[in-house]
Amino acid sequence: MLNGKKIVLGITGSIAAYKSCLIIRELIKKGAEVQVVITPAGKEFITPITLSALTHKPVISEFFSQRDGTWNSHVDLGLWADAMVIAPATASTIGKMANGIADNMLITTYLSMKAPVFIAPAMDLDMFAHPSTQKNLRTLQDYGNHIIEPGTGFLASTLEGKGRMEEPVNIVARLEEYFSNEDIKPLAGKKILITAGPTYEKIDPVRFIGNYSSGKMGLALAEECASQGADVELVCGPVSAKMSRDYPNIHRTDVESAQEMYEACKAIYPTMDAGILCAAVADFTPETVADQKIKRTGDDMIIRLKPNPDIAASLGKMKRAEQKLVGFALETNNEESNAQDKLKKKNFDFIVLNSLRDKGAGFKTDTNKISIISAEGRKDFPLKSKVDAARDIVDEMVSTFNS
Ligand code: CTP
Repeated sequence: MLNGKKIVLGITGSIAAYKSCLIIRELIKKGAEVQVVITPAGKEFITPITLSALTHKPVISEFFSQRDGTWNSHVDLGLWADAMVIAPATASTIGKMANGIADNMLITTYLSMKAPVFIAPAMDLDMFAHPSTQKNLRTLQDYGNHIIEPGTGFLASTLEGKGRMEEPVNIVARLEEYFSNEDIKPLAGKKILITAGPTYEKIDPVRFIGNYSSGKMGLALAEECASQGADVELVCGPVSAKMSRDYPNIHRTDVESAQEMYEACKAIYPTMDAGILCAAVADFTPETVADQKIKRTGDDMIIRLKPNPDIAASLGKMKRAEQKLVGFALETNNEESNAQDKLKKKNFDFIVLNSLRDKGAGFKTDTNKISIISAEGRKDFPLKSKVDAARDIVDEMVSTFNS
């Protein structure tokens, strides 16, 4: 059911626009409230009178409502909706959405949308198969939109029957499935601190001691926790890696040094349900930072280092019984016994081990080969993308919460 769900239905200029009536009827039957936004071309295929009779609401099409000149606010619609469905979506609308060409009310509404967006393409096979359309659809999918298509999705190898709009009942079923999964998101209501990336320890105004951590594993963990419904506090060292999209439930604090990361984490962790400490924190930092760029003198250069705070160990000490803490260990030798030691010393619930001996694991790669070690034992996972490895780690955390 879709009881009380507020759906913005975008209709564009395709012959399949008549099927929008069936989508509206199905949505309303399931208990949803529907607001139609139609493009100028859409109105050539179906009249706003029919649509407003079905939805019991005026149809929005122009930036200004013609009668009294009031401004139709796409921003308000973006906040009002629980989901936006664009069905049928023509090649032209898909292209404009992918490229931010906001020349009608439907596109401005899409660009302001805070809720998930579902797109049901409708066009002839040649238009659908054109690399331009395929590229735009891929872009929209990368932006986190859901493409609804008959069969197995637009990246399937066969294009037979492609481009035809998915049947209205199936479109509505996809929405129902989305909302039913949302209700059972395993980390809904949980707050999770994640540290990611390297730290930079300043030597002088232009030099630092750092490491090769790319931050990709930490960002993947943040995305996975957010997708599973958690509110994420991401404390991130200097990284150039980007998340695949924006998440309203990820709050990011950027830091540079281990000391800054320590202070941010100490302040955040007490209100969290769990922490995942994925950052490659420098264990040492220069005892003094030169105010001016250090000049070559011809002599040996000695930088005296002092220890940094151990963020994991401090959080492990302040951890309350109901809180969880997950650490990482990157080892080159005696992997398992070193990881076991860290598990106990830092009071982790489990530790994720990557060995630098494994090809494709560790820093700078897009893949990782992990083992999860806890008091219960050891689980080894095959080489996977960091995104998939993040899912294994988060799944393990979900079972720790439930145990
Ligand atoms: N860690 C941390 N703060 C530090 C150092 C490490 O929070 N100052 C965390 C890492 O994020 C990771 C775990 O501790 O989750 C293990 O880090 P690692 O550097 O491998 O452990 P160390 O205790 O520093 O041991 P080693 O002697 O191997 O460097």
